[in-house]
Amino acid sequence: MIKKKILDALNKQINAELYSAYLYLSMSAYFESKNLKGFAHWMRKQSKEEQTHAMKIYDHIVERGDLVNLTSIGAPTADWKSVQAVFEHAYNHERKVTGMIHDIVEAARAEKDYATEAMLQWFVNEQVEEEAQADEIVQKLKMNGESKSGLLVLDHHLGKRE
Ligand code: FEO
Repeated sequence: MIKKKILDALNKQINAELYSAYLYLSMSAYFESKNLKGFAHWMRKQSKEEQTHAMKIYDHIVERGDLVNLTSIGAPTADWKSVQAVFEHAYNHERKVTGMIHDIVEAARAEKDYATEAMLQWFVNEQVEEEAQADEIVQKLKMNGESKSGLLVLDHHLGKRE
């Protein structure tokens, strides 16, 4: 059994991961509306990845014999002023998620919940990658400036995400 404080934080994190999935799906829809199919594909993949993050925590709670508590997911932003604004939003969102993960790691450590701490280690590493990939795209978009052809090259490149 997981202590209530940690269980509440884990259930809240499931919601945050599902919100991330929702947010990236909204970003994907935005790119679809702009005919930027590569960016849309990248965000759709990212949305799916977030669902797997939620399920990792879900499975941990189930394996520990506790109850998953699903709560309502807030509506994500639906419109942005530019492609760069979308990826800046994604980068800032990931930084926020990293902070949430670190807070639960600290709480789990304080409560001597080593199993939760070990499970969250995967997320600690994943967040480094998540922040880095969003930031890399932001930096490329900044370098690209107003170039439409450069934007299409990046769109093509991101469309190849496995
Ligand atoms: Fe599940 Fe993008 O962090």
